[in-house]
Amino acid sequence: MENTLHRPVAAITGGASGIGLSSAKRWVAGGGSVVLMDLAQDGLDKAVAELGAGAARGMRVDVTDNASVVAAFESVGRVEGRLDTVINSAGIARPSLSREVSDEDFSLMLDIHLTGTMRVCRAAYPLLKQNGGGTIVNLASVAALAGMPGRASYTTAKAGIAGLTRTLAVEWASEGIRTNAVGPGYVRTALTDTLVAEGKLDDRPIKARTPLGRFAEPEEIAEVIYFLSTSASSYVNGHLLMADGGMTVDGNWYA
Ligand SMILES: NC(=O)c1ccc[n+]([C@@H]2O[C@H](COP(=O)([O-])OP(=O)(O)OC[C@H]3O[C@@H](n4cnc5c(N)ncnc54)[C@H](O)[C@@H]3O)[C@@H](O)[C@H]2O)c1
Repeated sequence: MENTLHRPVAAITGGASGIGLSSAKRWVAGGGSVVLMDLAQDGLDKAVAELGAGAARGMRVDVTDNASVVAAFESVGRVEGRLDTVINSAGIARPSLSREVSDEDFSLMLDIHLTGTMRVCRAAYPLLKQNGGGTIVNLASVAALAGMPGRASYTTAKAGIAGLTRTLAVEWASEGIRTNAVGPGYVRTALTDTLVAEGKLDDRPIKARTPLGRFAEPEEIAEVIYFLSTSASSYVNGHLLMADGGMTVDGNWYA
């Protein structure tokens, strides 16, 4: 029988879809097991069936609800008994113009992305510490670095995540916990597919402004997350690694 005793465990918020699900697949392919934490029960059931019940467990968690997050990590402590990495990939997109955005919509985006990431890191901390250290990878975005019209709540949340990442990297390094963030450009997932379908995102100018000329596949971002999650990146801490096809360094203003 396979010895699963020391299988490294990843907790992945937003793990039922897109970048989170691809990261789960990558972690399992590397020999680990995953705990998927997501709001979407259907998505969780499908993801666990795909990954295999021996390698994956799904939990319905709302990152805006502290009790739900705390209970989830208590459960990881009881069931898996260890935690090696945390990937914060829960998120939504809700573009609106700054002159029109409601307090409720603005706060909700910050609550899910920024405070949600903080809640998850805080709840995971005792388990990571008990483990003798581990890694945290937070999902930032090109929106952490650029001003984007109609996306004030998203850019604010993602810039906040980059700041939070740097502070946790400094605060928790002495306990062997490394915290980094990945900054994807546009990735082909349900999140962007929905925006395109609703007419809230035109992918043509985005491709034209991306030096690589295309959206990323979620697997390409998962590979970067995997690097930041494992000892391959053992001296990387507090870094925002852009995986954006060159979008944020593009200085070609001539053509
Ligand atoms: N897709 C992109 O182009 C892109 C680019 C840069 C950054 N990101 C970021 O990557 C992360 C993942 O995005 P994705 O494209 O994979 O999206 P996705 O929609 O495919 O997956 C997001 C998942 O988060 C879950 N979720 C939403 N609210 C939640 C909550 N309150 N509690 C728990 N789970 C919740 C959803 O159910 C969904 O399964 C997000 O933080 C997003 O902002 C995405």
